[in-house]
Amino acid sequence: MLESDRLVLRPWTHRPDDIDRLADLYAQPSHVRFLGAMREPVGRMVDNWSAHMAADPREFIAAIEVRKTGVVAGTVLYNLLPGEHHMEVGWRLHPDSEGHGYATEAGHMVIERGFRLGVPEVFALVVPKNIRSQRVCRRLGMAHLGRTTRYHATEYELFHLVSPRLRPNSVARTPQRARS
Ligand SMILES: CC(C)(COP(=O)(O)OP(=O)(O)OC[C@H]1O[C@@H](n2cnc3c(N)ncnc32)[C@H](O)[C@@H]1OP(=O)(O)O)[C@@H](O)C(=O)NCCC(=O)NCCS
Repeated sequence: MLESDRLVLRPWTHRPDDIDRLADLYAQPSHVRFLGAMREPVGRMVDNWSAHMAADPREFIAAIEVRKTGVVAGTVLYNLLPGEHHMEVGWRLHPDSEGHGYATEAGHMVIERGFRLGVPEVFALVVPKNIRSQRVCRRLGMAHLGRTTRYHATEYELFHLVSPRLRPNSVARTPQRARS
């Protein structure tokens, strides 16, 4: 579980309210437009996510719960890119929870967790027309690397962020400055 002042990121469960919210989330027209239709029942998605997290502790797929209201705003995904050792970050908000900064905040929380675990870099794949999601990437400080067709046989805008520990002139890598 990860917590901030506003958000609690916690695993999805098989509770009926979670299952209903997840099904509703993945059925939203804006999600189907950019991410395609649901490929499996949501209960199986929850099982797959917990299996993935158990197999690789860097992975973190969580419900974004708004602390003040208890509403599940959406989901945040931090997982391996297909066929690679690189990590990918992604987000989905229910339309009733857009426009509050929840995706950016949840993205920041899972990216920072990954960096704390020693992950050196993280990527995001966004379809070219998904401008809102690209704005989330930019707000997170991710660099736009251009377009790629390397994944899922689809064209994506590729975004990238390097761990602060590996950035040149990083405070964490400069012992004298880190001590002062
Ligand atoms: C992509 C998606 C997550 C973006 O949602 P979003 O609400 O724009 O993103 P955030 O939660 O980070 O909110 C940022 C917005 O909230 C506003 N905001 C309001 N209060 C805020 C606060 N306290 N803190 C930060 N931002 C705040 C920001 O100004 C920003 O609005 P703007 O882009 O108009 O300037 C959402 O549109 C979505 O789920 N789409 C469908 C699924 C999808 O495409 N997923 C991505 C696949 S790559």
